[in-house]
Amino acid sequence: MRQILRLTVNGEAAESLVAPHQSLADFLREDLGLTGTKHGCDLGDCGACTVLVDGEPRLSCITLALECEGREVTTIEGVARDGRVHPVQEAFDRCVAAQCGYCTPGLVLSCVALLRDNPSPSEAQIRAGLSGNICRCTGYTKIMDAVREAAVELAGQAPSPAEGSRRD
Ligand code: FES
Ligand code: FES
Repeated sequence: MRQILRLTVNGEAAESLVAPHQSLADFLREDLGLTGTKHGCDLGDCGACTVLVDGEPRLSCITLALECEGREVTTIEGVARDGRVHPVQEAFDRCVAAQCGYCTPGLVLSCVALLRDNPSPSEAQIRAGLSGNICRCTGYTKIMDAVREAAVELAGQAPSPAEGSRRD
């Protein structure tokens, strides 16, 4: 039996009737039309479906939509700042850190959370922060370059509300 779900998505209130088994990924894509969130493995292995829930990266394919009652979800459609793409997105573009781009929304969101919590990560910390996001075609060198460039760009900038803040 469907249940009502109320949450905030990309800064706006959303409400929908969802099935108990409906994943957050399906809710975002099918109910809200936010197709930037990708289906990859649908098993929690690839990271293509990564979104932020209360500021923390979550695999939306293995998160039930109803688990997000009252929470704040940020998808790739919600990371732009003041009409400009996010500095992390700009850095991915500059560094050509994507080929097919299928993994990119999830990688960008993981990177946004990583740099919010650790503005100057070490190589090992970047690798750990993005370890849940698999890319099958770019190779990770350019992705690492993009994260380093984004860190430099973000240094000294105020965080965007879209990046959220952790609720510990
Ligand atoms: S689609 Fe969610 S982890 Fe692969
Ligand atoms: S750019 Fe194709 S999977 Fe990453």
